Amino acid sequence: MTNLQKFELCIVGGCGHAGLPLALAFADRGVKTIAYDINQKTIEKIESGFIPFVEEGLEGALKKNLNKTLFLSSNKAVLQEASTLIITIGTPVDEHINPQYTPVMKFIQDVEPLLSEDQTLIMRSTIFPGTMDYIRSFFEEKNKPLSICFCPERLAEGKALEELKAFPQIISAFDERGLESAQKLFSRLAPKTITLSPREAELAKLFTNVWRYIKFSVANQFFMMAEDGGANFNKIWNAMREDYPRAQDFPKAGFAAGPCLFKDTMQLASYYNHKFFLGHAAMLVNEGMPDYIRDTLKKKEPLRKKKIGILGMAFKGDIDDVRESLAFKLRKLLMFEGAQVFCSDEFWDGNQFIEKSEFLTKEELLRQCDIIVIGAPHTAYKRLNFSGKTIVDIWDHIEKNN
Ligand SMILES: NC(=O)c1ccc[n+]([C@@H]2O[C@H](COP(=O)([O-])OP(=O)(O)OC[C@H]3O[C@@H](n4cnc5c(N)ncnc54)[C@H](O)[C@@H]3O)[C@@H](O)[C@H]2O)c1
Repeated sequence: MTNLQKFELCIVGGCGHAGLPLALAFADRGVKTIAYDINQKTIEKIESGFIPFVEEGLEGALKKNLNKTLFLSSNKAVLQEASTLIITIGTPVDEHINPQYTPVMKFIQDVEPLLSEDQTLIMRSTIFPGTMDYIRSFFEEKNKPLSICFCPERLAEGKALEELKAFPQIISAFDERGLESAQKLFSRLAPKTITLSPREAELAKLFTNVWRYIKFSVANQFFMMAEDGGANFNKIWNAMREDYPRAQDFPKAGFAAGPCLFKDTMQLASYYNHKFFLGHAAMLVNEGMPDYIRDTLKKKEPLRKKKIGILGMAFKGDIDDVRESLAFKLRKLLMFEGAQVFCSDEFWDGNQFIEKSEFLTKEELLRQCDIIVIGAPHTAYKRLNFSGKTIVDIWDHIEKNN
């Protein structure tokens, strides 16, 4: 027997980087929430009070809300116990860098028999434009007119809980009832909601990430241009921005990586039949940064047998997420040159992808290596003593009196 009143909300993929902060944010606002996930091991960890990744504020929110307003389950039957479902499962790209439609579609086909027309289904994973039309047609063919919405996630990892409460939420739906439920739900969290059509919302989500990716590529291209011409990019960056409002959003150089920006740029390229030249150009520049570092080092001296340390393996500063991190690409390129490469990180424990002997503490890495490359700008590296070392810091992260 189903009981749609047991929970107000079910977050599907509720143990993930997008799902868990969302579940906790709603639970913290008093929404009785069930986080459903297929990963039973992670559920058990979370139930014992452990947050499986670095994300500000989650531990406190979990302590406060677990088994009061937040519950967890790996039993699919809980999908029948909430009036609103939010889907946050992963949406990867394949080996041709085209979106994989199957995870979302398989999920929808799999759970359809459990769902009823009284429910509201909110997609939140980043999706290929047109996916919402597919989902609507799918349920129409099943004669199950549940409300279908798309309310994209636009948060930065590490700051999700804070940003969920600070930023407006884009909402979209195919019917008035869906729009009303999404509006009512997200008004309990976000300062305001902004309504678009489902296709507009799909594109708004991708445009948001791709805009950032392209901006990073501009900074990275200018960085290479300046440094190759013997000029200091960071001095130019500071001068361009000083008291000049129109350049304030000009980012610094760095590795533009992680599970979203590159993938979303490729989704948009695929959507536009691979005529998204700007996106492909951004990809070439951003993905070329590790090559640029290798080439710059190689120009100075042969890298064979050199001991090179990469400080920071996460895809950005002060988080532990190494998914699609360019620090790993750099490691591979340097190893191919015959260098002996060591890695370190403040948050990631080095237990995957590399040999145990390659992973050192930052102190040991500094002691053993002659060349140090900042792979992720963790705060802990800002004031380290690098004297006597060749240091590569494309991010301009290290304090200069070092
Ligand atoms: N990580 C972010 O900060 C972020 C930001 C914006 C958008 N997104 C988008 O959110 C989506 C999820 O990304 P993520 O980083 O949270 O991924 P993730 O891998 O951290 O989380 C996905 C979760 O879904 C679970 N899962 C997978 N298939 C499932 C199924 N069939 N039923 C129930 N649970 C299932 C997994 O076990 C995992 O816990 C992606 O589309 C991503 O692009 C993520």
